[in-house]
Amino acid sequence: MSNDFDYAHNNKNVIWMSQNTNHLPTHTAVQEAIRKSADEREYTKYPLASGLPELRDLILSDLSLPDQELHITNGGTEALYCLMRHIQPKGSEMITSDPSYFVVHKFAKLGGAKCTDTPIYNGNYRFDIEDIKEAINPKSKSIFLIDPINPLGSTYPREEKKAICDVAEDHNLWLIDDITYRDFAPNHTLAADLLPEKTITAYSVSKNCGLAGMRVGSLVGPKEFIRNIRGTMVSDLGINVVGQRASIAALKTKSEWLPGLVETALKNQTIIKNAVDKIDGVELPVYPSAASMMVIDISKHNANPQEVQDKLLYENDIFVRAGNYVSTRFGENFIRVSFSIPTPEVERFAEVFPIVMEELS
Ligand SMILES: Cc1ncc(COP(=O)(O)O)c(C=O)c1O
Repeated sequence: MSNDFDYAHNNKNVIWMSQNTNHLPTHTAVQEAIRKSADEREYTKYPLASGLPELRDLILSDLSLPDQELHITNGGTEALYCLMRHIQPKGSEMITSDPSYFVVHKFAKLGGAKCTDTPIYNGNYRFDIEDIKEAINPKSKSIFLIDPINPLGSTYPREEKKAICDVAEDHNLWLIDDITYRDFAPNHTLAADLLPEKTITAYSVSKNCGLAGMRVGSLVGPKEFIRNIRGTMVSDLGINVVGQRASIAALKTKSEWLPGLVETALKNQTIIKNAVDKIDGVELPVYPSAASMMVIDISKHNANPQEVQDKLLYENDIFVRAGNYVSTRFGENFIRVSFSIPTPEVERFAEVFPIVMEELS
């Protein structure tokens, strides 16, 4: 696995469809902010530990949650890691799905908590409310909702999200709303709008703002909860100041660049769908995806996901991900591809993918 990343990082020609990162242009103000911060050598000091006040205000107004509090973190990753340490003690349980973003399950398990990994690779390809109810027991502390879901791109209609919030409330569970891909979704409901006192929102600028390398995110929640967790956060000396300046510039200009970016991402999905439709035994379980990635199911084809990943990467310089990274139970059924990349790169994938599948059949 690390060989794949070594190869891809050492080869500038690689088309990067493996990490849902966003390579589409946003606004020149972002690069200007990065240059200004570097020119002023802001990096010589530790930044304010709770985050730059302007960034904090921008995130709360981006979410329209003025009554909540937040802590700026080293990506959504740190927010989720520290959250697991805080709310999932040894012996506790978290309602999780399979497929999912397993990094967070790993964080929970490191502290001795258990994840339910409730199957969602069927039906609407998202949590079924009855399955959630069934998975709850006295040890349950939280429901980990990723909306839209990595890797599938499914999202929850408002009434379903409300039903999940009601269950969390009835059982006194935390609802973790991981909204990393929210800005790609045409209609998205924040759990914090429905259940503000029990929702913790994991926020990131990696995918929407195209700032994955800057490592900036946030943990957003009720004021008292954030005050309590603040002292336990890992990045005690603050978060990358250049990244925070870039995030401020991106969020301030978001209304100017986001609509065009979402439109390009949608067009890129169409190009992938047209290629997939031509291949026997290959289909898209969720289309259109409400995120920046989608799953391509190849379970009715002879090829296996790892072979497809290897052939695309080492013979064609296109980096996609075999399903087992995001699913224990269903990983052999699919590959995951992200499409928030320039359209010519997606066109290249659409040209090569059918040939690869033909060669592997
Ligand atoms: C669902 C989900 N949550 C959180 C993250 C972490 O993102 P970051 O640490 O870059 O903010 C990712 C990254 O892929 C993700 O897919």
